[in-house]
Amino acid sequence: MKLATSLTLFTAVLAAPLAAPAPDVAPAVAEGSASAAYSAILSVVSKQSSKFSALQKRELDEEDRYIVVFDSEASVEQIAAEIAKLDALVDQESSNGITSALDLSAYNDGSGFLGFVGKFNSTIVNQLNQSPILTVEQDTYVPEPKFFAEPVLDKRAIETDENPPNWGLGRISHKQFQGEGNETYVRETTAKHSTVAYVVDSGVRITHEMFQGRAVWGANLLDDIDEDLKGHGSHVAGTLGGKDYGVDVNTKIVAVKVFGANGGGPQSVVNAGFTWALNDFIKNRNTVPRGVLNYSGGGSVLASQDVILARAVKEGLVVVTSAGNDAKDACTDGPANNGAKTHGFITVASLNEHNVNAYDSNWGTCVDVWAPGSKIPSASHKSDTGIVIMRGTSMASPHVAGLATYYMSISDKTLSPGEVEDLITKSNTDVLTFDLKGSPNAVAYNGNGQ
Ligand SMILES: *[C@@H]1O[C@H](CO)[C@@H](O)[C@H](O)[C@H]1NC(C)=O
Ligand SMILES: *[C@@H]1O[C@H](CO)[C@@H](O)[C@H](O)[C@H]1NC(C)=O
Ligand SMILES: *[C@@H]1O[C@H](CO)[C@@H](O)[C@H](O)[C@H]1NC(C)=O
Repeated sequence: MKLATSLTLFTAVLAAPLAAPAPDVAPAVAEGSASAAYSAILSVVSKQSSKFSALQKRELDEEDRYIVVFDSEASVEQIAAEIAKLDALVDQESSNGITSALDLSAYNDGSGFLGFVGKFNSTIVNQLNQSPILTVEQDTYVPEPKFFAEPVLDKRAIETDENPPNWGLGRISHKQFQGEGNETYVRETTAKHSTVAYVVDSGVRITHEMFQGRAVWGANLLDDIDEDLKGHGSHVAGTLGGKDYGVDVNTKIVAVKVFGANGGGPQSVVNAGFTWALNDFIKNRNTVPRGVLNYSGGGSVLASQDVILARAVKEGLVVVTSAGNDAKDACTDGPANNGAKTHGFITVASLNEHNVNAYDSNWGTCVDVWAPGSKIPSASHKSDTGIVIMRGTSMASPHVAGLATYYMSISDKTLSPGEVEDLITKSNTDVLTFDLKGSPNAVAYNGNGQ
């Protein structure tokens, strides 16, 4: 990396010998010191994490695990100084140390170093807490997202979009509610551009026929079983992009497993899943710059989650999440709380099949839009043809994630996450008549004019 940087500088100077070199030189020097600081950070991370690598996936329940994130204004040099201080406290023989980094590796000047996860005793945690440039949070367990499944049905043979098996497809393609059982799904079927959807969840049954080979296994940050053992992720992916049942039947789906058979997972693993997806998006951004990250586990409001997801939006990835199913203010849940403060981060509340709020959907000013979430049939994780009906805001958010890839796939301009949010949330407003409790009066809509 260093060699490439100096070569570029050398070429630039040679090519423009008469231009004043000073402005070129100054940033190059600063960059050099940033990359030196970044190398120092990585060498501490690598030294400390080496003793854990064999144990990482198996030691998920450890209580002394902490997540540390740096403020976005912190310089790489400040971060390096903080890590050097930490390193001086960590005895390599002890069970303390950084276990993994939250790092966007495409930035070789360290500007993608967001934080780290580690096991630390109270002495070290106290020391970290004195730093003004970081936030320390104890790792927590993200409980299973609440959702409700009904028995598996036989797949219905749907030839056209006259009567789509998922009523939600009718709802998002019409300004007015059509009446259940009388819908059509109206949309463009040809994608002009490739898109990618990261489903950070319990995994996806990628062999389900609904995915037509468009679903791939991205990463398993939780365990060694590359399968969806719960069903939540497969169902979400089907609503997002499954043939007949899903919103966007052209998108590529990438499964990122962070939740296990009991439906939940540690926050540190969820953060690693977000970071993996973001690294993958950045790596492929030159060829596929249109992507969405869909996540629903609702929990506490957490600094680490907010930092990573805000960075994802800044990097161009649309983030969609569910408002939660506790009939309360969505601003009290993370990451739903980001809906109001980050343009390009979309928090979705749930409409039922009668076009009113699902009784348990969260609401309020952190909600960006309402989408169908009750009585939603989609892929089962138990067979390659199985269909299961589920309900919850987890079923509403993939309708919006699918709309995000849909809009990006038909637009020649590479839309920013904020522009995608506006298309979905501002094109069908003032059509809801129930008590919104501060939520916007907006239904997710694909803009076809009907
Ligand atoms: C924490 O671990 C360090 C070594 O890494 C040790 O020096 C220190 O005494 C420990 N503190 C406690 C409270 O155990
Ligand atoms: C179904 O749609 C047709 C045509 O728009 C309409 O005449 C009919 O009343 C609708 N039925 C219901 C149950 O909404
Ligand atoms: C996004 O997916 C999650 C999966 O948990 C789902 O709950 C949420 O509602 C939607 N967003 C996603 C990941 O597709």
